[in-house]
Amino acid sequence: MADVSENPSLLEQAKSVLEMNDRGNYTQPAHGLYPHQWLWDSCFIAIGLRHLDVDRAQSEVLSLLRGQWHNGMLPNIIFRDDPQYRTDRNLWRSWLSPFAPSDVMTTGITQPPMLAEAVVQIGKKMAWPERRQWYRQVYPALLAYHEWLYHERDPHNEGLVLQIHPWETGLDNTPPWMEELHQHRLPMYIRLIEKLHLAWIINLVRRDTKSIAADQRFSAIESVAMFDMQLRLRRKAYDINKILDHSLLTIEDLSFNSIFIRANAHLRDIAKSLREELPDGLEAHMHKTEKALETLWDDYAGQYYSRDFVTHRLLKTPSVATLLPLYAGTISEERAAKLVKLLENEHGFGPAYPVPSVPLNAFGFKPKGYWQGPTWVNMNWLIIDGLNRYGYKDHAAALRESTLEMVEKAGCYEYFDPRNGEPAGAANFSWTAALAIDLLKAK
Ligand code: GLC
Repeated sequence: MADVSENPSLLEQAKSVLEMNDRGNYTQPAHGLYPHQWLWDSCFIAIGLRHLDVDRAQSEVLSLLRGQWHNGMLPNIIFRDDPQYRTDRNLWRSWLSPFAPSDVMTTGITQPPMLAEAVVQIGKKMAWPERRQWYRQVYPALLAYHEWLYHERDPHNEGLVLQIHPWETGLDNTPPWMEELHQHRLPMYIRLIEKLHLAWIINLVRRDTKSIAADQRFSAIESVAMFDMQLRLRRKAYDINKILDHSLLTIEDLSFNSIFIRANAHLRDIAKSLREELPDGLEAHMHKTEKALETLWDDYAGQYYSRDFVTHRLLKTPSVATLLPLYAGTISEERAAKLVKLLENEHGFGPAYPVPSVPLNAFGFKPKGYWQGPTWVNMNWLIIDGLNRYGYKDHAAALRESTLEMVEKAGCYEYFDPRNGEPAGAANFSWTAALAIDLLKAK
């Protein structure tokens, strides 16, 4: 097989996708479907952009901070200030919260904390004096964000942070969450829609299925359930105490917490290099999270799972999240080896174009079903990074190679069929382009 990193066309193609989606100081994930600024998208995008233009990578990150709430939260979306997007902004009404910024409109939920990683990766492109300045510039916001996560999202001081909407995981319709939703938490009126087979009406008003085939997105029932959950959060003006008082779905998500652990390690390093002491209690809390991750391990299945916040029941539905503790980097060599074994199974997580968001042999695997089967380049990037740090250099190299081959063959799509690499979802998707650039340069 030809080495794709020697082929300039992929690099050129990826660059042009980023240029096409550039909106000045931030990059939209894709034209049409995703016109706003998304939190973890911009972090992944900055990781690629740093190879092209360090200043522009910095502005990608800094523009995220415009949306930071006064309590430290970073919202998953900052809405574009354009009359045509008034409906999107009104669906959230972030102004209902006293903590929301007044000059930009945002959602009231967050997304996986990839910010520290982006900051560090950009920093690697700078000499020390500049890097120090860069760290200084972002440290207060980063620290406030991590403190907010602990303060609001770990109310029982257990170490793990909870998520209040599937969108917060970034893996929107991932099976562990959807299973919970279907089995335990669908409101009555949604059950009725399902029972009376009225789901087709919902599809008439959906925007995502106008450009992407319906079988590649949420089911109609799932999408109305998402919307219903969003409205519940809005009714409580995004006040966490009110939300937790009578919560619908609260999960300590495995992928979110794995990413948080890595982000904490980066935050620690940044503070250390600035000779800043982390605030009292934060270091201990960070340590607790690393230990708490191990409570998500299921000995029988030999893998990690997310957990219900209220009952502490593990949600034993397979998904790509099980591999993300490799990225967290704090699990034992022995457990890391067990996860690597999962990756080697061609009927599970190791088909022709890995890593599928749901293993092939799992019930409900859908090859083009959004987060219910397809391969996503951001997941691969996290897993490659973890494999490298655990010393699985060959596995990391093979995954890098198959990822680049997949993108080169099919284009910078949002996701891919893991059996044959066929593209699906939005075309010209920014993080696919940015992370392909990073993987190309990482050799
Ligand atoms: C979808 C993805 C989410 C991403 C967003 C914008 O909602 O599931 O992870 O951030 O699109 O690309």
